[in-house]
Order: sequence, then structure tokens, then C-alpha cells
Amino acid sequence: MTEQPETHAPATRPESDLLPGTHPLRDGRTSSAPLVLTARRQPVPHTPVWFMRQAGRSLPEYRKVREGVAMLDSCFRTDLIVEITLQPVRRLGVDAAIFFSDIVVPLKAIGIDLDIVPGVGPVVAEPFRTMADVDRLRDLTDDDVAPVLAAVTALSQELGGTPLIGFAGAPFTLASYLVEGGPSRDHARTKSLMYGAPDVWHALLEKLSHVAGQFLRQQVLAGASAVQLFDSWVGVLPARDYREYVLPHSTRALEHVADLGVPKIHFGVGTGELLADMRDAGADVVGVDFRVPLDEASRRVGPLHALQGNLDPASLFAGPEAVAARVRQVLADAEGLPGHIFNLGHGVLPSTDPDVLRSVVDLVHETTAR
Ligand code: CP3
Repeated sequence: MTEQPETHAPATRPESDLLPGTHPLRDGRTSSAPLVLTARRQPVPHTPVWFMRQAGRSLPEYRKVREGVAMLDSCFRTDLIVEITLQPVRRLGVDAAIFFSDIVVPLKAIGIDLDIVPGVGPVVAEPFRTMADVDRLRDLTDDDVAPVLAAVTALSQELGGTPLIGFAGAPFTLASYLVEGGPSRDHARTKSLMYGAPDVWHALLEKLSHVAGQFLRQQVLAGASAVQLFDSWVGVLPARDYREYVLPHSTRALEHVADLGVPKIHFGVGTGELLADMRDAGADVVGVDFRVPLDEASRRVGPLHALQGNLDPASLFAGPEAVAARVRQVLADAEGLPGHIFNLGHGVLPSTDPDVLRSVVDLVHETTAR
């Protein structure tokens, strides 16, 4: 792996010749897609837009193909991954696809006993608490996720000029599920381990950084044109603890793809106080939730990074005029930014009307057409 460029270096580096010649960034299919150009802070014909959790329960066609298939089973079926990933691209006209999977898929793939319980989220059979638990984690190989990578390759062919975003859970968010055993409001067990047994904590996060980084690298080599590292729950930490207990590990995860020259996005919820530190993990684009307006977020992140965000997903129920006004406000906040990828401030809520999502895509495209 080559040296990581200086953290604040301009993100204009072209894709690497380490990518296969048939990769969509190398053969030119996605190299001038608005999402890719924006991440590199280059001019675009319109602001690119996609939605976190666009592939999922808000779409009737998703609920139909998922009938009778458990969530994690569907994540290991190539045909379902391809179909579910394409559904929102067809229906919504978004500028990127995010492949259908879940952050716990690579953990399941290396043999951790866990399930995704409907309405709850990931649940781990034997939660991680000790150094012996850390030893249960191993490196992720291509064979572990073969059906997933087959889907990524098929999708990168199906999608033509629309970039496929690969993703992984960041070490902190993965650790929070492993340590708590499931979703948690206060993250008390996670923080107990972090503050009370820092050696175990750092060993755990180091291993998770490799699993996450390996998963990102596999997806890029299989055809993904961008990646997003989700640190959904890291907003529960103050900045000083973030820097000490999390940042080195998220940085290591992203280093796994640094030499590939693929755009990298890093996102968390409630991370207003962490934005400048999250920027230092090495992504090109910092994702912002709905709590901090984009102009203020950009002041915190600085001029060398594009931003992604940040319409409140709950505002999509407010009726067409209110939705349009709030979309325009996000675009106004983003005026003059080094780069802006329009998204929600967190994932699409399951009861969202897909027609409203479509209207947001159209409005962003019309308003920002240059
Ligand atoms: O469109 C996309 O964004 C791609 C698919 C995707 C899923 N999960 C599918 C999914 C992505 C990117 C994720 C990432 C993920 N998973 C994160 C990070 C993003 C975020 O929202 O913060 C997290 C924290 C998880 C863990 C997880 N998995 C949760 C909290 C849940 C929800 C539990 C529930 O049922 O409400 C899941 C399950 C899950 N992942 C679903 C989907 C479509 C719903 C399960 C179903 O459809 O049966």
C-alpha cells in the first residue's frame, strides 16, 4: 500500500492503475459521473443526489422481493442484492446506487453468530467483552463474501454510468453492536470497555478496522466507484475521546482503499462536534447529519473537502411545499461549498412515500442545473 497522502491534500487524484482495466472508473463509464466529480471538488452539471437507505422498506417492490426471505439471507443472495440495489435507481432517478447489504455482513461472513432482527437491528449471540473475544475476529477473504462480490461486479456492469457506492461499518459502530450485543441508547457497555480496558478496546478496533477496510477494498476491486464508511453511532463520543479511541482505527480502515484513488465518504449521526476530526480519517467527503447546516459544517471541515447531506428524513412527511422549501434551504446552505452531494441527514424512514423521494431528486436536479 502506498503512503497515505497528506490529510489535507487536494482530493483530485485520479483513479489508480491498481484498479482492473474493466473497472468503471478506469474505462471511463463513471469517471465523470457527478458524484465522482463532486468528491474530487470538480465542476458538475448538477448537484448529485442519492439517499442513505434508498434500497429498502420504503419501496413496495423491495417488500415484495423480500417476502419470506430473512434480511441476512438476502444479503448473501447475488440475485436479490442486484435486484434490490437497482430498484431505487430505476424508480428515483438518483445519481448513485448503494449496494444492498448491511454493516454486519462481513462479521457474519467471518463466522460471528449474529442476526438482524426485524424492527430491532443487529443482535449478537455472544457479545464481545474480553481479549479472548477479540480473538474470535479474523481477516476477511474474498471467499467469505463471494456472492456479495459477484453482485458488486454484476451491478457495476448493469449500472452503466451510475456509480455504485460500496460501504462498510466503521470500527466504532461495528464494535458497539459486538459489545452491546445489539442496538443501544446509551452505549454504556461500549464506553465501559473503551475507558476501563483500553488495551482490549484498541485490539478490538484494530481488528475491526481491517475487516471494514478489507470489505471496502474487495468492493472497489469488484467494481464499486466510491465508498462510504458509516460510523452511525460515534456521535455519542466527545471529540477528545473520538481522537484517542476511534480516529486511528477509522483512518486505518480507509487506508485500505487509499491507493485505489476511489472517492471516499465518511458519515456519522450527531457528529457536529466531531466533523473536523472525522475529516482527518482520510475521506474526500464528510457526511453531515441534519443537526448542523452545511455552511456551518463546511466552516468546521474546511475548504478541501466536499460535504454530503443533509435534509432531515423526518421532514419528508411535511407535505410538498414544506419539503420543497426545506430542500431549497439545504441547497442554499450548500451554495459556494467546495462540493456538495445532496442526501438525507440519516437514512430514509421506512414509511416514506417514494414519490416524495422522486420529487426531491427532480427538484435538486432542476434547481442546480448549470
Ligand atoms: O440503501 C442502503 O442504504 C443500502 C442498504 C443498507 C442497509 N443497512 C440495509 C438494511 C445500509 C447501507 C445499511 C447500513 C447499516 N446497517 C447501518 C449504517 C447506516 C445507518 O442507518 O446508520 C447501520 C447502523 C446498520 C444496522 C442496522 N441494520 C439497523 C439499525 C437496522 C434497522 C433495524 C430495523 O429493522 O428497523 C438494520 C436492518 C436493515 N439494514 C434493513 C435494511 C433494508 C431493514 C431490515 C429489513 O428490510 O428487513
